[in-house]
Amino acid sequence: GAQRIVLGIESSCDETGAGLVVGGRLLGQAVASSMDEHARFGGVVPEIAARAHVQALAPVVRQALADAELGMGDIGAVAVTTGPGLSGTLQVGLSGAKALAYALGVPLYGVHHLAGHVAADTLEHGPLPNPCVVLIVSGGHTSLLLVRDLARDAVTHLGDTLDDAAGECFDKVARVFGLPYPGGPAIDRAAREGNPRAVAFPRPMTGPRDDPYTFSFSGLKTAAARWAERHQSRPLPVSDGAAALQEAIADVLTRKAVAACGAHEVRTLVVVGGVAANSRVRALAEERCRAAGITLRVPPPRLCTDNGAMIAAVGDLLVRAGAEPAPLDVSIDPSAPL
Ligand code: KG4
Ligand code: ZN
Repeated sequence: GAQRIVLGIESSCDETGAGLVVGGRLLGQAVASSMDEHARFGGVVPEIAARAHVQALAPVVRQALADAELGMGDIGAVAVTTGPGLSGTLQVGLSGAKALAYALGVPLYGVHHLAGHVAADTLEHGPLPNPCVVLIVSGGHTSLLLVRDLARDAVTHLGDTLDDAAGECFDKVARVFGLPYPGGPAIDRAAREGNPRAVAFPRPMTGPRDDPYTFSFSGLKTAAARWAERHQSRPLPVSDGAAALQEAIADVLTRKAVAACGAHEVRTLVVVGGVAANSRVRALAEERCRAAGITLRVPPPRLCTDNGAMIAAVGDLLVRAGAEPAPLDVSIDPSAPL
């Protein structure tokens, strides 16, 4: 039969995203962010984010349709993030998605946010090879996965973070350095003028007795705070601190991801999530993969951070795999395991 064009809706945090995908192809997308409203609080305020989704959802869907030069009647299925994420913001997206699916008489699919991050790469580079190692690095997650088939949940967890996620570390240290929220892009920018060897930040969980695929980033935050304290009487060389922190995070992430490929004899590494937009993470992953003979896949930065296209990409995989749609009484799952 004719392929269904999937509308994807994302609202797990501070980005309202809508995207349209069919047959693995991105037709159009739009994203609105409430990031600026959270900046003065130094982090996402769930209540403010939820209200921003209520305001942005319908306009963002309309914008995505316009971007794809499609109309409401072209939507053949609706996919929506059901978790993990903030419960209040997830509920806004799910309610909107249900209303649309019901009114249009099309199937609804619940999507795991992290599956969305992984599928984002397929919109740029085509189907994932089986197997591949996936490093998901975002504001809430740092996970190494062995992926065989995303649509059929054939995913093995190799390791996670013991404490903070990589993006959380960027955001928290940025605060200590007096940089604006969100910290990741701010540190990336500041680091351009800095010397990564100016400060010897630790490389947590890389010792001989540490688990090779487990991460820890809370110690880096403490180390950065101590370094900032030592400069109390002088101006803080923020760009050097930013460059050194970024180097430490990129080093640990790429070292473990490449080691996972080696140990599992996997030829492809996929790096996704907001932190995959980081310039040093991308460059170091490229360098180390080339040296190890591994093919690296990283989505373009706009598909690394939260968006609706990645949710539509999973919905499209589910449709094509013949998966069962979600009932209209489906609920959110804020702490959904992948
Ligand atoms: O995937 P994402 O948009 O949302 C979550 O699912 O968490 O990731 C957001 C995280 C934030 O911590 C943000 O600071 C970080 O990704 N991030 C970056 C960069 N762009 C976004 N971190 C480092 N460098 C960047 N260029
Ligand atoms: Zn995300």
